[in-house]
Amino acid sequence: MKTTSIWKATADKQINFPPLQKDITVDVAIVGGGITGLMSALFLSEAGKKVAVFEALNVGLGTTGYSTGNLYSIVDEHLSKIKSKWDKEVMINVVKSRSRALDLIEQTINKFGIECDFARQPFHYFAEKLDDYAVEFLNEEHTTAQEAGLNATLTSDIPLNFPVERGLRIENQAQFHPLKFIRGLAEKVSDKFMIFENTKIEEIDEDNITLKTASNTIKADKIIIATHTPKGIFAVQSFMGPYREYGVAGTLKSGNYPQGIFWQVSEGKKHSVRSFNDNGKNYIMVIGEKHKTGQEDDSTNREQRLEKYLKVRCDIDTFEYRWGGQHYRSADGLAFIGQSFMTDDTYIATGFATDGLVYGTLAAMIIKDHILGKRNEYFEMYNSRRITPLKSAASFIKENINEVIQYLKDYPGNADADEFSEVKKDEGKIIEIKGEKCGVYRDEDDKLHIVSAVCTHMKCIVNWNNLEKSWDCPCHGSRFNCKGEVIEGPAFSGLTLLTETKLKNKK
Ligand code: FES
Repeated sequence: MKTTSIWKATADKQINFPPLQKDITVDVAIVGGGITGLMSALFLSEAGKKVAVFEALNVGLGTTGYSTGNLYSIVDEHLSKIKSKWDKEVMINVVKSRSRALDLIEQTINKFGIECDFARQPFHYFAEKLDDYAVEFLNEEHTTAQEAGLNATLTSDIPLNFPVERGLRIENQAQFHPLKFIRGLAEKVSDKFMIFENTKIEEIDEDNITLKTASNTIKADKIIIATHTPKGIFAVQSFMGPYREYGVAGTLKSGNYPQGIFWQVSEGKKHSVRSFNDNGKNYIMVIGEKHKTGQEDDSTNREQRLEKYLKVRCDIDTFEYRWGGQHYRSADGLAFIGQSFMTDDTYIATGFATDGLVYGTLAAMIIKDHILGKRNEYFEMYNSRRITPLKSAASFIKENINEVIQYLKDYPGNADADEFSEVKKDEGKIIEIKGEKCGVYRDEDDKLHIVSAVCTHMKCIVNWNNLEKSWDCPCHGSRFNCKGEVIEGPAFSGLTLLTETKLKNKK
């Protein structure tokens, strides 16, 4: 089985854009080449703005290429929960705003002729056992979905290839291939704005509206930070928790590949199931096993549990792909879209939970209107400067106690190995040497990779993720490879590289 997202493995062409090689001045500088960044660039350039997108890797290879490819108007937090945390009007407006964004994705695909396997499909909640929790959940979601104007029906006819007692079907949602969409979009609209790949932004100066790479400076009137969670230190990071989820995809020996989006209804662990056809070859995939980033001892078990989930329900032939993705959940249940707390000229878009493909497009619509001085009816609802102590209280306290616990791990004596020799092949451990916490990974060739275990964002201690071979920070979700280089998250700089000799000679 390959460790790569199914989208990365099946999106045939990668278009290459050059890195930035000189200083430039633009109207709008966008950090991040995922769906939020590229849709913002498209809308603003069509309105006459000079726009440039800066992507540290290649377009779509951040979060978008590791998403589910599901497009829906409801939310991961559930509509009934949004209604009880906020009110009926907010719940309805969440659905209306997301439905508009979903329509806009479809219009963009049609307008530019982007081949990305887009199809309107029904969304289903499914309960394998109709216990009290499932009955209450399905009834509540049915009522709220109807209040929001969605075409929702309670049914026991859920087209999965394993037994389901009851479900809720919501019509006219959609699916696509997220990486084909992003690459196709970049290719079709690259004459409208500039895209620079392999261009890592190392500093964002909000006061002077300036971005810096290692060798160049970008001056702009406005900055949009479209990096899933904003790069740098932002107040909003205290109102969100970072989570990882995993996916596995395989083929069937027999049985149908279910068409649509399927979310399990369960009081405990929840899974989502979908299928995908790649040029005549079908795959079934399951996503789940969510946990707080950087707070898992053995994520390999999670992947095995996902395989088992499908194996006991379907006639699996082989598993071909496995991957992990990250999301950030806001404490009050709504995404944060709008200006940063520091200045009016920097925009952020984050806290999308697992609903980022539609929220990313919605963020592009809202931010475009605000930059152009137009009133957007959803700006206030998602305003990134909102403070909602009552609606956030329980989640906020939970996330922040959790964060404090992660800081406390910095106290001496919390290392999980004493010597380098205790670190086996293909294993990562924290070792404390003369008061310094080190992240030590011994690769398959017996080579040690040693980095400082202190996260460069706000100094939490990172943990080893043995499934994805990364050092993950439990506080705000920064992730680093075994050489300490930043993979994702708010940290700008990598973990400090250390050597065995240097550490042993340390006084
Ligand atoms: Fe904030 Fe590590 S991501 S301290």
